[in-house]
Amino acid sequence: MKKLVISGGKVLKGSVEINGAKNAAVAILPAAIMASEGKCVIENIPDIEDVHCLERILKSLGCSVNKICNNTLEIDATDVTSINACTDDVRKMRASYYFIGALLSRFKKARVELPGGCPIGVRPIDQHIKGFEALGAKVTIEHGAVIVEAEHLYGTNIFFDVVSVGATINVMLAATLAEGTTILENVAKEPHVVDVANFLNSMGADIKGAGTDVIRIKGVKKLVGCDYSVIPDQIEAGTFMIAAVATKGDVTIKNVIPKHLESISAKLSEMGAKIEEGDDSVRVYVEGDLRGVNVKTAPYPGFPTDVQQPMSTLLCIVPGRSIVSESIWENRFKHMDELKKMGANIKVEGRTSIIEGVEKLTGTQVIATDLRAGAAMVIAGLVAKGQTEILEIEHIDRGYPNIEDKFTALGADIYRVEE
Ligand code: EPU
Repeated sequence: MKKLVISGGKVLKGSVEINGAKNAAVAILPAAIMASEGKCVIENIPDIEDVHCLERILKSLGCSVNKICNNTLEIDATDVTSINACTDDVRKMRASYYFIGALLSRFKKARVELPGGCPIGVRPIDQHIKGFEALGAKVTIEHGAVIVEAEHLYGTNIFFDVVSVGATINVMLAATLAEGTTILENVAKEPHVVDVANFLNSMGADIKGAGTDVIRIKGVKKLVGCDYSVIPDQIEAGTFMIAAVATKGDVTIKNVIPKHLESISAKLSEMGAKIEEGDDSVRVYVEGDLRGVNVKTAPYPGFPTDVQQPMSTLLCIVPGRSIVSESIWENRFKHMDELKKMGANIKVEGRTSIIEGVEKLTGTQVIATDLRAGAAMVIAGLVAKGQTEILEIEHIDRGYPNIEDKFTALGADIYRVEE
């Protein structure tokens, strides 16, 4: 059993380097299988469990994957031997569904087990399927696997019913090697959607408009290997920004794109925290009093759902009432029960939580119910009086590289126990 043990009350000070974005890397790695010639050398890949899973899946499909150094992978997909992604790793994680779009694009067929991921909602893939079918693929689900096949894929217009990061990326992958032009409307605009489009363009794709509501994809005949560097992780950065404010510290968060953090910076400023933006860094510190605020999650450029859970922890300890509305996932409030064990005053009503700030949280044993809930618990432990033990930290390891080392370097008292 693994757990994190934190003695709370230390003020975080210093600087921290943010890793490459998880949700970009987990789409870029499957997309690398689309290069039929040459090698992809991808830098700034975060050293997290979800990436390790994808490396194993790529190898199981016949790709050669070499770790050039800690955060750089070289992938050669010239001799892919299988279009069947049906291993435990595929079932364990969400992003394995990008192999459907990537394999369909290059080989016009794929068999991929239905994905797993954090238990934060129903997580349907109907919009992915709608997109594949519109491009001309036949999609069936048999024995827990998605099977897609097409004689040809033809470009077309697709209007998504909901704004979905996964569907936008997956259908963009499939359309990249289709014949003709595809226009995707009502798409997700998250920085990682733009990063995947940039990666595909570096391999020879012709994609325009990523980051706006409409993406235009002119199908190309083939993709070739390229050198690429993944963007910094907006969510990891947001987590450290919130931890800095929660401990009333002074932390410079380095290797970030401040523009991607605007909704988080704006909310922290509204609470009374100080934010100073540099070219590729943000300094976050507290001078004076903080106050409760209302937070409503929304697709980019709105406040990210993935930062809602760490933010809730902070709101538990600032004076006044805060209201948190979760509009993306119907089941992303499990961390609220854990925070209540630590003395938080929270009332959950459906997708809304009403938080009355308390003077202090107190340490106890809590569970990381999912990835970002785990980050919320780490911040709770950092500010709580006494000792906090966080169990089920495998969730945290899926998305945050060396979390305890980074917080230790900022002055926290946190360590990992493996029994
Ligand atoms: N949705 C549908 N049909 C679909 C797809 C999505 O109804 O076919 C709905 C979902 O139920 C949800 C909404 O659309 O209500 C948004 O879902 P989206 O598809 O955008 O989510 P995702 O692609 O499954 C990614 C991230 C999540 C992040 C969401 C929203 C990855 C691997 N995961 O999930 O990240 O919360 O976008 O930004 O990129 C995390 O990192 O902790 C995490 C959960």
